[in-house]
Amino acid sequence: MRIFNVVGARPNFMKVAPVHAALVAAGHDAKLIHTGQHYDEAMSAIFFQQLGMPTPDVNLEVGSASHAVQTARIMEAFEPLVLRERPELVLVAGDVNSTIACALVAKKLHVAVAHLEAGLRSFDMRMPEEINRVLTDRISDLLLTPSPDADDNLRHEGADEHAIARVGNAMIDSLRAHVDAARALATPQQLGLVPRGYALVTLHRPSNVDDEPQLRAIMLMLAELSHELPVLFPMHPRTRARLATLGLASRLAQAGALRVVEPLGYLEFLGLQADARLILTDSGGIQEESTALGVPCLTARENTERPITISEGTNTLVGTDTTRILAVARDVLANGGKQGRIPALWDGQTAKRVVAAVARRFG
Ligand code: UD1
Repeated sequence: MRIFNVVGARPNFMKVAPVHAALVAAGHDAKLIHTGQHYDEAMSAIFFQQLGMPTPDVNLEVGSASHAVQTARIMEAFEPLVLRERPELVLVAGDVNSTIACALVAKKLHVAVAHLEAGLRSFDMRMPEEINRVLTDRISDLLLTPSPDADDNLRHEGADEHAIARVGNAMIDSLRAHVDAARALATPQQLGLVPRGYALVTLHRPSNVDDEPQLRAIMLMLAELSHELPVLFPMHPRTRARLATLGLASRLAQAGALRVVEPLGYLEFLGLQADARLILTDSGGIQEESTALGVPCLTARENTERPITISEGTNTLVGTDTTRILAVARDVLANGGKQGRIPALWDGQTAKRVVAAVARRFG
């Protein structure tokens, strides 16, 4: 089949890399299409190098804008490409604006759509990602799910049973393939950190960083925590832009050992996760990676679309109240935090099951 594999933003790359490679290896005419939603070296190019992904066949170079403008730009650029190249299948991943934009274009041109990471639900329609997930699933012909909760959500919404294929977690294929190389870099030591002796933080959700008092409270809470153990915060550009307007620099300079650094490469960040004492995040993917690595994760959100990381993994939903977050973090330091197990089909073999599911559905 002629297949377009779409990537756009950072969390897409590690999901699509193994699937693209497996589709090519199976003899498909698979092309990698980058929408350009993320474009900085640190947010995009480094992932292609480190994941061993080929340079995208096409880069639509849409860049940043409001949701409507970004989504519209992706659609405008993707439509002529689909018309010209006539793929038989467009595979989209995750829940970013590139996901819904390309799914919508393909579907209206009567091209089949496969959604990798289908069926996840936070049931919070105030999150742009939830809107993207629900709408993409509704128009997808193949729903590639990571876990049984996702299958249940899709059935509740009336999805076609034949469209659902539980394949497992493609992001964990990348993790398993690269974790040894990641550890070999000894990134914690390079940064002067002691394995199991630091907290790793990432926060970039609009609900945490776009609200000024909330971001201020978070930074002060991290400064407090850093008196107990070093805190490393590789900062998303969105968060950095907001922080610059807060005028907190002098207060933070007096913090114990809170270090804000630029966004890191896939391998460096994976190595840091593997050896962290504690991870604090509002990311989707990091909830899963920490579960796969067996490292306690505190998720600073009121809900999660990945409940299996709580029921089976090492994740705890701590909400966004910083007093509570600090109390739970201290409890993890004192008591070691949550132990978990690795969910079924998070085994590094998901890409092969995707190839089989494509053959079954469209073969
Ligand atoms: C997007 C996804 C989010 C995902 C996150 C991972 C949507 C709706 N959101 O959010 O689900 O968790 O990616 O990073 O698709 N910017 C740069 N360089 C870049 C890209 C962005 O500086 O390469 C800055 C720009 O100022 C931009 C801002 O970051 O306005 C936000 O980028 P955007 O892609 O709109 O959303 P994210 O917050 O990254």
